[in-house]
Amino acid sequence: MRLDGKVAIITGAASGMGAATAELFAREGARVVVADLLETEGAEIVSKIASADGVARFQGLDVTDESNWDAVVANAVSEFGKVDILVNNAGVSGSHPDILNTDTWDEQMNVNAKGVFLGMRAVIPPMQKSGGGSIVNISSISGFVGQKFVHMGYNAAKGAVRLATKAAAVQFARENIRVNSVHPGIMPAMRTSKMTADPEVRAKMIRAVPAGREGKVEEVANANLFLASDESSYVTGIEVPVDGGFLAQ
Ligand SMILES: NC(=O)c1ccc[n+]([C@@H]2O[C@H](COP(=O)([O-])OP(=O)(O)OC[C@H]3O[C@@H](n4cnc5c(N)ncnc54)[C@H](O)[C@@H]3O)[C@@H](O)[C@H]2O)c1
Repeated sequence: MRLDGKVAIITGAASGMGAATAELFAREGARVVVADLLETEGAEIVSKIASADGVARFQGLDVTDESNWDAVVANAVSEFGKVDILVNNAGVSGSHPDILNTDTWDEQMNVNAKGVFLGMRAVIPPMQKSGGGSIVNISSISGFVGQKFVHMGYNAAKGAVRLATKAAAVQFARENIRVNSVHPGIMPAMRTSKMTADPEVRAKMIRAVPAGREGKVEEVANANLFLASDESSYVTGIEVPVDGGFLAQ
């Protein structure tokens, strides 16, 4: 198994790509902390994992709350002994109809950018103590290019994730902590998607994808797995688009 003996915290793991990543990591032998705001949905993922003989626990987390983060990491260390992997995946959609709305800018920066920083801030000390770790930050194609139907705060936040990833990679490489970013393309709509959940808008977006289809959550989970595992032991500070060729154009 590719994550045998590892302990992984995955944020936003009650839904979408986070849930797919949690299930895959558990199948590969990791003990998984399913961290999310959504308790009922998170508990369902935990029982799915348990019924496939995996090990997982739900943990309530608001990624914007520093003390919440400290509790998540302390609980993981006391229950599982260490933290090897963090997937900073939780996020809110930027497909807000009012693309000049200031509250949306603040929400985007708070959840999608600061939430990722707070996650790194919380797990790096225990990783330093245990001799290393792997952090996978979920950005987006929106961390590279602007899009018509997306608030610029989403692009700014995802761009911040892309570069904060490189800063952390450089700063902690000597301590065997690797930090990489994954950039999903057009995926199934997020729970919070507005305009981009509209079938007409989606059809237009998919026409712009060289592969001619949206991605599957498992395809992102597979990229996360490679970066989380020791197979990528000399890989740090890179960007991995999982986008059907969108950014290659
Ligand atoms: N779906 C897409 O098209 C797409 C494309 C590129 C990147 N992404 C990014 O991928 C990640 C996962 O998206 P998804 O499509 O699985 O979305 P989703 O809406 O299905 O899942 C997001 C999860 O994050 C959780 N979450 C939101 N705010 C939180 C908070 N403050 N604290 C803790 N948990 C919180 C939600 O409860 C939810 O379970 C996000 O970072 C998103 O920006 C999505």
